[in-house]
Amino acid sequence: MNLSDACRKQLEEAETRVEILIRKEGKIAAEPFRLEKTRESMTLRESLAQQQRLVDSELEPPRPSGTTPPETIHRACVYSLFAGGKRIRPILCIEAAHAISPSADGVVAAACSLELIHTYSLIHDDLPALDNDDYRRGKLTNHKVFGEAMAILAGDALLTFAFQVLAGLNTTDDRKVRLIAELSAASGTVGGMIGGQVADLEGEGKPPEPQLLETIHRAKTGALLRASLRLGAIYAGAGEGQYTALSRFGEHIGLAFQIVDDILDVEESSEALGKTAGKDAQQGKITFPRWYGLETSRRMAEEECARAHQVLEPFGERVARPARDRRPHCPSQVMRTSLNLVAEWQPVGRRPTPIVCPT
Ligand code: IPE
Ligand code: IPE
Ligand code: MG
Ligand code: MG
Ligand code: MG
Repeated sequence: MNLSDACRKQLEEAETRVEILIRKEGKIAAEPFRLEKTRESMTLRESLAQQQRLVDSELEPPRPSGTTPPETIHRACVYSLFAGGKRIRPILCIEAAHAISPSADGVVAAACSLELIHTYSLIHDDLPALDNDDYRRGKLTNHKVFGEAMAILAGDALLTFAFQVLAGLNTTDDRKVRLIAELSAASGTVGGMIGGQVADLEGEGKPPEPQLLETIHRAKTGALLRASLRLGAIYAGAGEGQYTALSRFGEHIGLAFQIVDDILDVEESSEALGKTAGKDAQQGKITFPRWYGLETSRRMAEEECARAHQVLEPFGERVARPARDRRPHCPSQVMRTSLNLVAEWQPVGRRPTPIVCPT
């Protein structure tokens, strides 16, 4: 163990012992002493949890809050936005931006636009007319609580709000236009999320032809994940080479992410997923496990992650390491390391949520 590791260990032990006395409402109260860790000394989980908190507080009302009239729609939006999503898209966006420019101030707001679109897409994905799901993020789906009409409108509202957020960013008009163009294309009908959802629905019950399978996954999930990287890159003023590399990284991660989602649907319980497991087979969805089997699907997801890591190779010589070992020297190294770590996150990154799934 080197000196700094030894010091950190001692500080962490001290953290659990030391209490500071503070005056609270006229009384002396004991509060646990909190040691603020630096990013470099955090584990992956700690670092992701910190970023989730950042995103959560940016999304937090006051915006239209649950009490802004008309109340029902705002309560419906807040309900799904704060149901415990992993926030992987905004986190990827923030990481990409900081990799390009350590002073990408304000990027969290841009990143939130991705979570708004993503949450809208999930509310609509769960509707009876689409996947007809009762549970999402460990809670009843939006339409189960607020009714179908309000769930449709809540999705519409979040979609619209995403672009309002981008239009209001504190950056140049040129960058705002590029961000809006990228996010709308990624959410749209041609190779974007909606196009993918259409193919996914029309594919139900059809033979899982491999080319169609890949097209669906790249569009319904991959496009928004790639956009997450691109939004960060655009916001931070990436050069062409950086933008292309981040886009390719996003494509590989995007495909891997949906393959893993398909695998989890087969392997995990509803309680662990926070959504109904086994749904894809029930609905005859075109999925990777259905065509390739679980083992090959797992290998394919790993290969996509490995390709994603390779794309970032020109940006730094280090290989991915646990966050605790990170000693970044330049933005490109941070990019490679932290993005590689996020790339491996999907199977382990679920946020603990109180889950009440049907028995
Ligand atoms: C679920 O996405 C839907 C897919 C596109 C696979 P996430 O796994 O990111 O869901 P949340 O946001 O954490 O609930
Ligand atoms: C959803 O894919 C992709 C979206 C665009 C929302 P799935 O239908 O597989 O997502 P889950 O499994 O319901 O989260
Ligand atoms: Mg679906
Ligand atoms: Mg679904
Ligand atoms: Mg799924």
